[in-house]
Amino acid sequence: STKYPDIKRDDRFARLTPDHVAFFKGLLGSGSAVIDGVTSDAAADDLESFNSDWMRKYRGHCQLVLKPGSTDEVSKILKYCNDNMLAVVPQGGNTGLVGGSVPVFDEIVINLSRMDQITEFDDVSGTLVAGAGCILEVADQFLAGKGYIFPLDLGAKGSCHIGGNLSTNAGGLRLLRYGSLHGSVLGIEAVLADGTIVDDLCKLRKNNTGYDLKQLFIGAEGTIGIITKVSIQCPQRSPAQNVAFFGLESFEQVQKAFRAAKGQLSEILSAFELMDEGSQALVREVTGNRRPLDGQYPFYCLVETSGSNADHDSEKLESFLEDVMEKGIVLGGTLAQDETQRRALWGWREGIPEVLGHFGGVYKYDVSIPIKQMYQMVEDTRARIDAAGLLGDTDEHPVRAVVGYGHMGDSNLHLNVSTRRFDERVEKVLEPFVYEWIAERQGSISAEHGLGLAKKKYIGYSRTPTMLGLMKQIKTLYDPNGILNPYKYI
Ligand code: FAD
Ligand code: MLT
Ligand code: ZN
Repeated sequence: STKYPDIKRDDRFARLTPDHVAFFKGLLGSGSAVIDGVTSDAAADDLESFNSDWMRKYRGHCQLVLKPGSTDEVSKILKYCNDNMLAVVPQGGNTGLVGGSVPVFDEIVINLSRMDQITEFDDVSGTLVAGAGCILEVADQFLAGKGYIFPLDLGAKGSCHIGGNLSTNAGGLRLLRYGSLHGSVLGIEAVLADGTIVDDLCKLRKNNTGYDLKQLFIGAEGTIGIITKVSIQCPQRSPAQNVAFFGLESFEQVQKAFRAAKGQLSEILSAFELMDEGSQALVREVTGNRRPLDGQYPFYCLVETSGSNADHDSEKLESFLEDVMEKGIVLGGTLAQDETQRRALWGWREGIPEVLGHFGGVYKYDVSIPIKQMYQMVEDTRARIDAAGLLGDTDEHPVRAVVGYGHMGDSNLHLNVSTRRFDERVEKVLEPFVYEWIAERQGSISAEHGLGLAKKKYIGYSRTPTMLGLMKQIKTLYDPNGILNPYKYI
């Protein structure tokens, strides 16, 4: 049985047999690198965490998880799968938010967690080379010891893999400062569907020698190859970090505060995040933590600076806060005095994704919209859900809250509908409404999370038929049998 009535299993793909499993055990050994529910009853519980996504919204039925330990093993696995028409799903930390990292039917999961070694670091250039399965936080901690920082940070850092980050082209909390992975990744090693190893593990900042093919793998969501190694340019870690958290009365004022922060904090500004009251009320309700500000405001912003001189930076941040408060842009604010307070303030932002699903389920929309209209989308969606009688405080209302937060610095809004349970009526009110709303304003239906299964039907709202045609040609070129992450967006 499947939860996806609109999708049919592709009968070109073979069903797993004991012979297939025997091949994989011969290759990887019969230890923990193979989790097998075909020939053994190593069962549902062991397979559950690989079949089910972080939101508990998408669930597949795979009976086999493979954990290769080397590029050569990935290559042999894929060659065998391609020759035998076995479909696969590449999987990193399984923290993706669009249902891309879990099977839809019985696809084999190829999990990269054993390929987690940091193999090279150049202390002068800041170039790091690591296996795709290296956990983001582990890479960043390693770099901290060398005075460097990983140029990406996000709430799932303790579980997500850098290979998964590249595959989703994750944006995160400091894109404003360190830019996109399309700029910082120097090279990759990847394996194509037929087992061909693509060695583009370049460690150079500049390399204008023909098409930059690695860029195709960044954001491909496991549809054209499996990334096995990553080479990335890491910036100097700033010794001084300061954080301010403040409340504002309107989205107009949020925009003014952002403009002022760019002007006054310029080169030390490293994050400018937005949270509405609805999102903060949920964090408060679930964690029970004391709010950072005395009053409650419709909007909150978290501003972080990263620089080389703590006194200079905190003076700048303090005078920024004074200035925006004097002008009435900001109504109340606080500055973290130490690392514990910095972490606590970040908790009010990074803790949001976790609490949204706490009461049942969450519908997530990760969108780019011209900045002036960003929050209007939350208001319009809330009004629509309310008008449909779905929003309320009692159990007969599936929706508890419609909230917005996100990366103000990147015009990237996270519109989230927190529910008591997943409910088709809610989905019907939301989709395609949300996507139409975005398309009318020339926005993007996926700013940073990707398309996966969740947005598979809606890619046409952000891409033209010509672009879709080109994408399909690339998919066919790299994966002619379509074994890599089938049923997803392409
Ligand atoms: P997975 O979830 O395992 O996989 C994601 C996709 O990549 C899947 O399609 C999978 O098939 C493919 N894939 C994984 N590894 C490989 C590989 N080696 N080769 C080829 N394909 C592969 N995203 C943001 O952009 N910004 C955020 O701020 C952010 N914050 C988050 C906070 C939380 C609490 C959570 C749960 C998620 C957040 N995300 C954010 C979502 C984000 O996409 C992931 O956290 C992360 O980038 C995915 O990494 P992963 O290793 O978990 O990949
Ligand atoms: C975030 O910015 O917190 C992440 O992208 C996750 C989410 O959208 O919930
Ligand atoms: Zn985000």
